[in-house]
This record gives sequence, C-alpha cells and structure tokens, in this order.
Amino acid sequence: MKFNIAVLAGDGIGPEVTEQAIKALDAIADVFDHSFVYTNALVGACAIDQTGNPLPDETIEICKESDAVLFGAIGHPKYDNDPSAKVRPEQGLLKLRKSLGLFCNIRPVKAFDRLIDNSPLKREIISGTDISIYRELTGGIYFGDKHLSEDGQVATDGCSYSVEEISRITHLAFKEAQNRRKKITLVDKANVLETSRLWRKTVTEIAKDYADVELDFLFVDNAAMQMILNPSQFDVILTENLFGDIISDEASVIGGSIGLLASASVGSTVGMFEPIHGSFPQATGKNIANPLASILSAAMMLRHLDLHKEAAAIENAVEKSLELGITTGDINPKKPFTTAKVGDFIADFLTHPEDTNRN
Ligand code: IPM
Ligand code: MN
Repeated sequence: MKFNIAVLAGDGIGPEVTEQAIKALDAIADVFDHSFVYTNALVGACAIDQTGNPLPDETIEICKESDAVLFGAIGHPKYDNDPSAKVRPEQGLLKLRKSLGLFCNIRPVKAFDRLIDNSPLKREIISGTDISIYRELTGGIYFGDKHLSEDGQVATDGCSYSVEEISRITHLAFKEAQNRRKKITLVDKANVLETSRLWRKTVTEIAKDYADVELDFLFVDNAAMQMILNPSQFDVILTENLFGDIISDEASVIGGSIGLLASASVGSTVGMFEPIHGSFPQATGKNIANPLASILSAAMMLRHLDLHKEAAAIENAVEKSLELGITTGDINPKKPFTTAKVGDFIADFLTHPEDTNRN
C-alpha cells in the first residue's frame, strides 16, 4: 500500500534521528511491499530562520494532506533565555497540535529487561513497569489566556477545560485500558484546582460505561512520588496537559534513557508521531543522539496505520539492538555506536533478520 508521510524533522538532533526512522521505514517498505512517500516541511527554529514563522501555513497543509506526520524535535537555546522573544520554536509545535486537533498524546513507558540496570532506580522497583500515559494535549494552561501587565510586574496564564475536552480523551484512555490491565489512574490536583474537580466528575461519570476497568485517583504531587517509589502499580495514566508533560519526563528515567521514549498524538485527523526527547542542542550534528525513540515512533505510526506486523518487526529490531548492545552512548557508554550505525543496524536487521553474522 502507498502512504503519504509528512516529515517535520525540525531542529537540533531532530533531522539526524528522523533520518534513521526513515531508514527503518524504507526497509519495511521493501520487505512488506509498501510505498512511503515523504514530504519534508518546516517547523520550529529552522522555520523561523527561513520564513520568520515557526509553523508556516504550507506545513499545516502538507500535514493535513498526509496519512501521518513523523516529527523530529524543535527548540534552540537562543530562544530559551530570551524572555522577550516574540516568536519561539515551541509555538510551532503547539499550533500544529491545535491545528491538527491532536488532543490525545500517548506515551508508553516500559522497563526494557536488557536496560534495567541503566536506570538510576533499583531493579526491584522498576522491574515489570509498563505504563501508557494519556496526556491531554490541546487544552489546559498551555492554551489558556496569557497576559503580562503593562508595567511587566504581573503575568497570568489561564487554565480551562470543558467537559467535551475531558470526555474525548477519557474514552480513548478507557478503551486502551480495556486492552491492557484494565486500570486507569487519573492524575490531578482536585484538592486545589477547579479544572481538576471537573476532570474527576467527568471521568467518574464516563467510568460507568466501562465497568470492567478500575478507576483510581492520585494528586499529581503524590503521583510524582509514586512514579519513583512504585511505578509498576500503574497501567493507564490519564491526565491534563501540564501534569502529563512533567510526569512523562519523570517516567522516562524508568526505561534507562529518555532516548527510548516514543509518542503518538492522535485526535480528529491525521496522527503525529514523535520522540519525547527534545532537540538536545549539545549533541546536534555529532552523530551521538539515540535514534531509537524516533524509530519506535515510526513503529507507533505503522500501528496507527493498521500495519501491525510491520510495527512489531521494528519493535523486534529495536529489542535486538538492545540485546546486542548496538546502541548509542546514553545506553552503552563503554562501546557507543553512532546514530547512523544504530539506524543502519535496524534497517539491516529488518531486511535480513536471519543473518546472525553482523556487528
Ligand atoms: C513535549 C515538549 C513540549 C511540551 C514543548 C517543546 C512545547 O516538552 O512534547 O513534551 O511541553 O508539550
Ligand atoms: Mn515535555
């Protein structure tokens, strides 16, 4: 089958890791007789440099006309410490999420057996961890009214959620839980925030339609602690935008490296697939960044396109690279492989899985 993929490689290490995901997709196309047609488009700091706009209209059009979007990373240090910057790379990503209606961000967190000793947490704590984080992505404080008083002394960010915004992601999270261990934890701050109380009420109501799924609640401060103390208690975590951002970075240490965590953003139209790590400016162009999160994001994309065997083949190749230690320095500091070498290995393994004389 033929699929049109929009490729938004973005900034920093985005282009080099995305290139490896494309190698993997090309190998899949060969082996399973598909055709992936890629269209590159600008987003982030590179889009600001070339057009003055972090998300040119053309990029939105290309995404809307595609079957899926493969995203790299955005961000550049020159914007991070400049509070007066009027245009920022991050605005491109946020506007893209909103324009494509990507209200549901799915971030799987797993303790890979082979990497368990890479994690700063103890083996017995993280062993068996398998969490699916459902983060609301187009509402909350990220998109509320922003204001800076004229004298520059008071800044405001509004947080609001509607029942509709809460309901649509909640249904997706419950369906996911039904296919997993049938447990949802709603992470909120309902002892303080009005929006969190609306989340609890709405989610509790919807839970009645999914009687086979157990629902419990955790305040976000406690959830942050539980994530380190006992992460294997979680199955599906459902939460709002800002809490999901924070909790998912925290959860990434469980897998041993943030360089392994993939994500899918889905909603009303085309899906977007991206590693959760950022643009990692210090590593840009050095061929040292871990491409596995991008490659695993490509696998999530395939699954979303209903190419399940193809997705499993990529995941299997990633397991193999971990098993053989063909990984970058974040995982394998003693004998690091380059970004490109890891990508070559994955593509080669997908093409010739039976060839055991590699490395
Ligand atoms: C993420 C990132 C973004 C977010 C930034 C780059 C705007 O941290 O995807 O988690 O906060 O959502
Ligand atoms: Mn984040």
